[in-house]
Amino acid sequence: MWKPPERIKYDPSPGKWPTAKVAQGSNLFASIQVGSIELRQRTWIPAMVPWRATEDGFVTDEVLEWYERFARGKPGAIVVEATGIRDIPSGPLLRIGHDRFIPGLKELVSTVKSASEGETKIFVQCIDFLMMKRRPDPTKFFQRFLHITEEHRKKLGEEFSSDEEIRNHLQTLDPEALDKLLTERELEDLNFGARERVNDVDSQHIRDLPVVLPNLFADAACRAKEAGMDGVELHYAHAYTMASFLSALNTRSDGYGGSLEGRVRLPLEVISNVREKVGEGFVLGCRFLSEECITGGSSLKDAVYFGVEFAKAGLDFISISRGGKFDDAKQPKIGEAAYPYTGPSGYECMPSNISDKFGPFGRNIEPTKRIRSAIRAAGYETPIVVTGGIHGFELAEKLLNDGSGDIIGAARQSMADPDWFRKMLLGRGGEIRLCTYSNYCEGLDQKHKVVTCKLWDKEGLGEPNVKMVNEGKRRATAPDWTE
Ligand SMILES: Cc1cc2nc3c(=O)[nH]c(=O)nc-3n(C[C@H](O)[C@H](O)[C@H](O)COP(=O)(O)O)c2cc1C
Ligand code: SF4
Repeated sequence: MWKPPERIKYDPSPGKWPTAKVAQGSNLFASIQVGSIELRQRTWIPAMVPWRATEDGFVTDEVLEWYERFARGKPGAIVVEATGIRDIPSGPLLRIGHDRFIPGLKELVSTVKSASEGETKIFVQCIDFLMMKRRPDPTKFFQRFLHITEEHRKKLGEEFSSDEEIRNHLQTLDPEALDKLLTERELEDLNFGARERVNDVDSQHIRDLPVVLPNLFADAACRAKEAGMDGVELHYAHAYTMASFLSALNTRSDGYGGSLEGRVRLPLEVISNVREKVGEGFVLGCRFLSEECITGGSSLKDAVYFGVEFAKAGLDFISISRGGKFDDAKQPKIGEAAYPYTGPSGYECMPSNISDKFGPFGRNIEPTKRIRSAIRAAGYETPIVVTGGIHGFELAEKLLNDGSGDIIGAARQSMADPDWFRKMLLGRGGEIRLCTYSNYCEGLDQKHKVVTCKLWDKEGLGEPNVKMVNEGKRRATAPDWTE
């Protein structure tokens, strides 16, 4: 993963832990209304993909154990990992693109409800993404993937006449020569792997996204409802389709790009279609970016506009993330796919303990506060989830008191210690295992390997009933904690 050149090392600094009495009287552990439901406390575990589904996208025992472990800590809400809304092969990512996925998701809901003794609400994050290929072997690229165009012929002159000759010649050229002959897009396909964009309106299926996505999201949300989920979080963040519609780099000229109004149009149409199909009373929220953190990408000003539009559209909650784009991702190795959290924007999404002067904690707090104030100023009370490096009671409480957010999201800290909210509530903060923000977990995610935390995945390996992953090398879930 990319790290700021300053390379300043940070340790977690949680501040003072509360006594049980202070915690019980705090804002963090006060309830909050989210649409039609009440969260018992303002603690929230944002979506994290642990790569534990089957290759066909079904819930497995490992998925159930993963969420069961979080639910035992009884947070206010858990958002289930990004779950694909299409019925297409997506590797071991959960899917909700067909009714056959409902029984597994039902089991997931009942697992969370029973482990949390009914205290935790469960939402599922619904995602759409476009096609992305692995970085090709150059020989294959020139011989099979590259489409030979008039432009290539013109540039090469009459020396090469057949496609075969052109392919064979291109294959022998060095990067500098290729820079002059291939388009920017062809070079990217060669060096990073082909990646579709919402701007590729020459392809029918990309042109038709505004026609198909509202129904795909709505059908997925209906399945979530049928599975007993408390609600749905529409994934409008990071490197995926809906975030690409919101992006300042969306230049579509069909009314779904260009201006702010054009860029937000499809996300709003999805919201209204989902709401119409799931009916009132089912919680509907979204996660989107405060800033894309890439050259030419959307700014905080854009996000303020989107936030107000989403609140106006009647969303029940809004969760704010940051960065996480393909545009500045590291070049993958041949045969591997680019990963949107390897560049500077990826750093903004999941900042690690090696940082700059600002540090890894709370980089998204001010932007979230700005979005929230604009939403309040426009007259909407939509609860806002603030996330990013939060790992202490004092900071969480401050954010709730000073209007930075209404709900506290903690992803990696909750993975490091799924009981951490509970320990705080019981006045046992001293027993919390603190995330070091090493991003070992994110490194596993990058390789699509089963995600675990380095603070506990080698602990108690020989003990009975410890479930293992990675050919028995790592434990699958955090060790037990008894109250
Ligand atoms: C392993 C891993 C997987 C993640 N998967 C998702 C995801 O599926 N959807 C999402 O919106 N964010 C995802 N994130 C980002 C987190 O939800 C969160 O925004 C980010 O880690 C910053 O919060 P934190 O500092 O509390 O960890 C993931 C993070 C990690 C570490
Ligand atoms: S591996 Fe554990 S300690 Fe390291 S960042 Fe992930 S959750 Fe935190």
